[in-house]
Amino acid sequence: MNITAQRLRQLAWLACALPAVYLTQQALTLSLGANPVEKLEHETGSWALLLLLCCLAVTPLRQLTGWNTLAPLRRTFGLFAFAYACVHVLVYAVLDRSLLWSELLLDLTKRPYVMLGAAAFLALAVLAATSPKVMVKKLGASAWKRLHTLVYAAGVLAVAHFAWLKWDKNLLDRPAMYGAVLALLLAWRLWFVYRSSSGRS
Ligand code: HEM
Repeated sequence: MNITAQRLRQLAWLACALPAVYLTQQALTLSLGANPVEKLEHETGSWALLLLLCCLAVTPLRQLTGWNTLAPLRRTFGLFAFAYACVHVLVYAVLDRSLLWSELLLDLTKRPYVMLGAAAFLALAVLAATSPKVMVKKLGASAWKRLHTLVYAAGVLAVAHFAWLKWDKNLLDRPAMYGAVLALLLAWRLWFVYRSSSGRS
């Protein structure tokens, strides 16, 4: 990796870690507001989704600019999205539901937004587990690439989780915005795949 790529990665690391540092500082100084658990749930969920969209935006940006130095950021953003999702799920299970398995199971089977969130989380976990380079060798490059298109499913499930949550409260502005960005990124990807395959034929 050349120096620019390394610097860029360090900057991305710093940017991704900042919200966590800020939230930890807010939690330690009891400055998370009247409902700290809800605040943590909302912040960690929002960052997980935002970083997932950043991860999906790397390839289109690289294709548009021809700047291949951006490529490693995909993994950085993806892993940070998973890390924020882990904290999000932990806050929900430990602080919100006090690890009461009966309640957790009831939520998982009765609340569609929890089902969608859990499916998104599972997809992110598979992606994170297969992200090391050694896994590319183990699975074979084309199988690995096919498996990693799962990142789009994770994005769709996460946006659906967010939208379902806000539907009742009629607060669909942010889910719609994230959904529009995701649709744009998906459309770009499909168009690029179509263009490459028709170019080849
Ligand atoms: C087992 C998996 C998950 C569970 C149980 C879960 C649960 C929750 C809960 C309880 C809330 C707050 C609900 C409320 O406002 O009353 C929430 C909000 C949210 N979650 Fe999740 N979640 C999961 C996975 C995910 C994942 C994987 C993502 C993103 C990649 C995500 C993104 C969000 C977002 C964006 C919000 C709304 C934040 C806001 O209101 O600003 N969640 N989730």
